[in-house]
Parts: sequence; structure tokens; C-alpha cells
Amino acid sequence: MCGIVAAIAETNIVPTLIEGLNKLEYRGYDSAGIAIVNQDGVERYRALGRVSELEKKTQDLKATAGIAHTRWATHGVPSKRNAHPHVSGGVAVVHNGIIENYESLREELIAQGYVFESETDTETIAHLIELILKTESSLFEAVRQTTQKLVGAYAIAVIEESHPELIVVAREGSPLLLGVSESGIYAASDASALLQVTQQLIYLENGDIAQLKNNQFCITDQAGTPVAREIVVSQLSADAVDLGNYQHYMQKEIFEQPDALANTIEIVASSDQIHTQLFGAQAPQIFKEIDRILILACGTSNYAGQVAKYWLESIAKVPTSVEVASEYRYRTTVPNPRQLVVAISQSGETADTLAALRFAKSLGQEKTFAICNVPESAIVRECELRFITRAGPEIGVASTKAFTTQLAALFMLTLAVAKQRGVLFPAEEGQYLHELRHLPAAVIEVLKLENSIKVWAEKFSSKQDAIFLGRGRHYPIALEGALKLKEISYIHAEAYPAGELKHGPLALIDSEMPVVAIAPNDELLEKLKSNLQEVKARGGELFVFADQGSHITQSDEIHILYLPEHYGELSPILHTVALQLFAYHCALMKGNDVDKPRNLAKSVTVE
Ligand code: G6P
Repeated sequence: MCGIVAAIAETNIVPTLIEGLNKLEYRGYDSAGIAIVNQDGVERYRALGRVSELEKKTQDLKATAGIAHTRWATHGVPSKRNAHPHVSGGVAVVHNGIIENYESLREELIAQGYVFESETDTETIAHLIELILKTESSLFEAVRQTTQKLVGAYAIAVIEESHPELIVVAREGSPLLLGVSESGIYAASDASALLQVTQQLIYLENGDIAQLKNNQFCITDQAGTPVAREIVVSQLSADAVDLGNYQHYMQKEIFEQPDALANTIEIVASSDQIHTQLFGAQAPQIFKEIDRILILACGTSNYAGQVAKYWLESIAKVPTSVEVASEYRYRTTVPNPRQLVVAISQSGETADTLAALRFAKSLGQEKTFAICNVPESAIVRECELRFITRAGPEIGVASTKAFTTQLAALFMLTLAVAKQRGVLFPAEEGQYLHELRHLPAAVIEVLKLENSIKVWAEKFSSKQDAIFLGRGRHYPIALEGALKLKEISYIHAEAYPAGELKHGPLALIDSEMPVVAIAPNDELLEKLKSNLQEVKARGGELFVFADQGSHITQSDEIHILYLPEHYGELSPILHTVALQLFAYHCALMKGNDVDKPRNLAKSVTVE
């Protein structure tokens, strides 16, 4: 997704802008650009492809005020012409989000004589500001008036040649924050871009417009009335995002899972009891009152929700539904004020999840709970209860440690809800917590299978398509395994509940259609074995992730990898780790850019 960095300081800000863009690379982008302003006017540099290309072009550039951007194409193809900043006269603008009325604005501006260089919606913003500046001397006022004409979501940063000492930023819908330090004032769409210079952050609210000048800032609402916004000290550390000895962030993040899980479950590390208050002071009361749970999430986070449905219904006995956020937000549903609405999001900024949460609240469903990896994010701020996973920053676009820590959090939530509702016996509680504490060690053992998984990936990476099968709480893991494979290796993969095989997908099975099966030694194993035979009988090749005690007969067509232990309710987490390694090595074999898969973004802050 697009990223913004802006800086105004006493010293040269160009290295800060470039470093900020580097930190935003993980969000996914296709081009990058910078504009600076000084006494000689505005200078703009843009490059298609990587930030490193832009860096080469700006090596000798020096300035004390500037804006920068990574673009993820929405309106118009990825190209230098469409890359931000967009300029009009002496105005330069970077923008995240989507301007929904850009076509009518564009027509009006063309009628006024403006010539468009790009296909972007952003260029309309630059021309609008330029138009207003013909009769208005204040850049802040011109930006404020422009925002009143925009419909949609935006975060913008603006510079202008006759105001070299000034940057104006504004937001509505898309995230934007300020960073404050003794030597400068900064703005960015994501805290990770600013941690290099400061940990003192101000999260702007919808409708906020801010002027950054002379080491000071002033924030107003859309009417121009000054508003006060709190400075928060970020808990994130700047060096948490270095690659270290790993080849890719995704690899680093897969191997960080034992630590990420240990950090996330630390809260229950030395106890045989789950304390419901760990989800918030109101949690005991709310968990007692609820009669249903509704989980809202997108992508991988949605699959975490789908696993949790199995846990919440079997252990906590609460009816649970899981909805894709982009569907829920536009659907007519039957609201239930006694329903706990759980929003799951690693970033906490996913536009659809945030909108679905707000929609759920607007229907009178006030009991809300966030599971998120970013404590300061919008979703966390808008929920009554929360649990912050402690995965650390996740840079690889394909989610790994954020997902497994979400699962750990959801398991703890299940236990807390079960306990509060009186359906969890003390012995069970102790046993589940014991299993949870064993999780980091169990994951370490799965990671040791990497070499065997690599051998499988060598066989697999030339395939065009694949089917993933799972049953019960491992069906969502089959979905996640297929998603991971397609995201980074570009192999077409579909997942099915194994029982559905004969209702359609079996027609696809031949020697060219490999089947990946998740076959833990659980109550559904025998059923799954029959499904595997159905595949074998049609000439399909099987890659089976089993575990201790699964006892499946190996043959030329059935390859089996045994996970070191059978792990009961938490088995989905172990199988996930194996499937992450599998997707990673398939993508490596194909020479793909694992951390930045084509067309995808880490944090999807537009609809
Ligand atoms: C994007 C990411 C996925 C992520 C999804 C939801 O598509 O590439 O990895 O699962 O957004 O993101 P969230 O931050 O809400 O978990």
C-alpha cells in the first residue's frame, strides 16, 4: 500500500525521507518519489521500481523540507508518470487513499484549463490547491479548502514553492501521524517510518489538518478550529525491523515465531489460571453477558478467526460466526447487542476491517474486542477490549508470525470466555495453559524440518496448480497454506475441506495436480485417509503433513512428512509453521521477491 513520509528540520532531511521510504517498503509498492522545497522552488524526483533507484537519483540532493512517497497503483498503471509526488505549478502533493469524486473534479479542472500528466486521482488534489492559491495566500488555507471538496479517503502532505518553510498535511480515512523531535517535525502514514528520528508520535484524527513549521506544529479540524492531540511515546523500537543474518524478512519472521509466541503468551507463563482481566478491566463482565461472538477480519487474519470458531464453539460453547470484513460492512445483518464483536488485524489499519467494526458498532453492538499487533492502531483505539499480540514488527507482506500469535491470542480468549461462562474445569484450564506454554518449544522442533521441506519444494515449485485439503480446525490452515503458496510462489492453489473433494475438486485430479493434505492424528484422521486414497486412485500426487501417530502408508505417490508431535487443540499452529516454510521455499526456488510479492500490499488501507 502507498506510504507517506514528510520532514521539515534544521538539517538535511533527504536521508530521513529515503530511510523512511525504506522502512515503508514492506507495505508493498511499485514506484517511489520525493519532492523538496527550498528558496529555488520545488524539485521532484521519481523512479519506477525500488526505493534504491530513487536513492541513486537523490544522492546529492539537500533540503530542509520535503515529502516522499511509495505508490501502490490504484488509478493508473505503475509508471514514473503516475508516481507521486504530483505537481501543479509550484505545488507538490503525496497522497494515500482514494478520491472517489476525482472524475468530476478532473472534468472541472480540465474546463478551467488544467492539463493532466497522469491517470491518478492525486493529481486533482495538486491542481485544486494550485487553483485556490491563485486567490488565497495561505497554503494551509488552500489545503483546508481543498479537503472540503474531496470525497473518499486520503492522507496528504503538501509543499509549495512560495512557502519553503512549511509543510501542510491532512487526513480523512487513511492513517497519518506526526513525529516530534527537538530537531524537526515529521509526518508519515506508518510509525515505522519515523522511529529512526523519534518515538514521540501524534496520531491525527479524521478531518485533521496540520501545519509543520519552524519546529512547531498546529493542528486544526476541517473548519480550521485548533484541536489538541495527545503525544504518545511509541513502544516500537527502530532496530526491530533489521534483517540481521536472514536472507528475507519472511524467513526471519518464520524463525522468530518461537520468541513471538513466547512473548505473546508471557502473560500466562507462570500460572495455571487464565485471568480474564488481561483483556481489559471490563472483560469479566462482558464475557459473562455475551451470547454470541462475531469475528471480523480480512485475509490471513480472517483464517485465524476461522480456526478460533472451532475453539470458541467446542471449548467455550459460544456460537461464533466469522465474516470477511469487506462483505459484512455492506450486508444487511441481524444485529445483536449481546454479541461480542472481535476485530482481528495484524496492522490495525485495514480499511475494510475498520469500516466493518464501525458498522457493527453503528448497529448498536457496543461490546468490541481487538486482537492486533500494533498497540497504537485505529482498530485498537476504537475497541473497548483488546489483546495486543507481541509478534514485533512484521515486514514480509505474507503474514507469518502475526498469524500464529493471533492464534495464540484467540486460544487465550477462548479459555477466558469459557472460564467466565463456567464451562472450563480447573483441570482442563491447567492442561490447556500447560500446552500453550509448550508452544515455543514445539515450534522450534517444526522449524528443524526445514531441510526436508526444502526437498519437497524442489519437487513442487514447477507445478502450476495445487489443491490443499484439511478437516475441522485444520481446514482454515489448509486455506492459509494455499494463500501463502499463491501469494509468494504464484502457484495457483485452492483449499477445500477434505470431505468436499468428491463434490467437485476431484474432477481436477491427475498427475499434474498435486494435493497437499494436513493430516494430524486427530478424530478426523481416518476420514481424511479415505480422501487421500480417492486422490491416489486418480493418479494424483500427495504431499501429506502428518504428525506423530498418523500412520499413513508412504508410496511413490504419497510423500509424508511427520511433525514431531501431535498437539491437540493447538496443532493448527504447528501445521501453519510447516506450510509457511513450504511456501517460502517454493517461492525461493522460483526466484521470486519473497518479501514483496507482486501486486500485494502489507497493510491495505484502501477499500
Ligand atoms: C493484506 C496482507 C495480508 C493480511 C491482510 C489483512 O492483504 O497482505 O497478509 O492478512 O492484509 O491485514 P490485517 O493487517 O488486517 O491483518
